[in-house]
Amino acid sequence: MPSKLAFLGLGNIGRGIAKNLVAKSKDAELPLILWNRTKGKADELSKQIGTSKTQVASTVEEAVLPSDIVWTCVGDDKADLAVYEAAMAVDVKGKLFVDCSTVHPETTDRITEMCKAAGAEFVACPVFGPPAAAEAGKLICVPSGPKASIDRLLPFTIDVIARENIIFADAPPSKSSLLKITGNTFILTLVSNLAEALPFAEKSGLGINELGQFIKLMLPGAYDGYFERMKNGDYYKKEPGFTVDLALKDANHAIKLAEDCGVKLQGVEVARGHLQAAKDIQGERADMASQYGAVRKESGLPYEV
Ligand SMILES: NC(=O)c1ccc[n+]([C@@H]2O[C@H](COP(=O)([O-])OP(=O)(O)OC[C@H]3O[C@@H](n4cnc5c(N)ncnc54)[C@H](OP(=O)(O)O)[C@@H]3O)[C@@H](O)[C@H]2O)c1
Repeated sequence: MPSKLAFLGLGNIGRGIAKNLVAKSKDAELPLILWNRTKGKADELSKQIGTSKTQVASTVEEAVLPSDIVWTCVGDDKADLAVYEAAMAVDVKGKLFVDCSTVHPETTDRITEMCKAAGAEFVACPVFGPPAAAEAGKLICVPSGPKASIDRLLPFTIDVIARENIIFADAPPSKSSLLKITGNTFILTLVSNLAEALPFAEKSGLGINELGQFIKLMLPGAYDGYFERMKNGDYYKKEPGFTVDLALKDANHAIKLAEDCGVKLQGVEVARGHLQAAKDIQGERADMASQYGAVRKESGLPYEV
């Protein structure tokens, strides 16, 4: 039987997931309920998807109450806890909560406890992939939690919002938060690597087009994608796809988690320094790829390309 869904948090990633749930899921009972802190964004998305297929809720409680499965995807740990505190104000017995936000495993543990105490099921399901992958329904989902709850979620993943799943069945939900934070150390450091290599190629006389040929052949995928965003100046010309504050959150979580087990993530510390420098120059509109502008400036080049 189709489930009634609500989607809470319609940022760069949430918008794409919500669109695909409506467009591709055979297991979703429409209309999909949409909630966002800034309600105008939910109204806008509802118009885009179709007002007969979506319904905008004014409060978290209003979104949660009629839903069987409640999806959440908000920026950081504080936002996530605030949304779950509001959600638990209504009767949530038997409902399944699915959290796609990237948060510290301790935050996921707290949310797991809140849901358990209220009689709800909970699966942490952080996702890998940029906003374009969310839009295309090609994310990698990492569900972790009780197997029976993951089974309720799986019909909405592959061929709907995801291209692959990495499943931790009957594991604590915080396990997937740990993989997500660890995985993002690769993104932070590859972007930092490019941010340094491009000004090096420019100033050494090699040239970035020549470096670009090597990257395309040897390192297609994420390296190539971020190379293009840097070369084209997307990091200051376009709306951020991975905001500097979210990237700093991930860097801080990774550094702290590693420190707690006696490991020093020096590459992530360098990336965090570039991100902070970019934020100091560009403010909150800086993007993960703005690390490039920061290193350019530090190297005597203009921040912009
Ligand atoms: N961007 C990526 O490439 C990417 C990839 C994978 C995973 N993620 C993770 O997915 C999550 C969402 O990322 P995103 O890129 O979609 O972020 P985003 O575009 O910056 O959107 C953030 C969302 O969180 C909401 N929010 C922020 N503070 C809130 C609060 N105190 N209470 C309620 N809602 C609040 C925002 O509401 P308003 O609209 O009102 O500000 C917005 O809906 C993050 O945890 C991020 O780390 C991001």
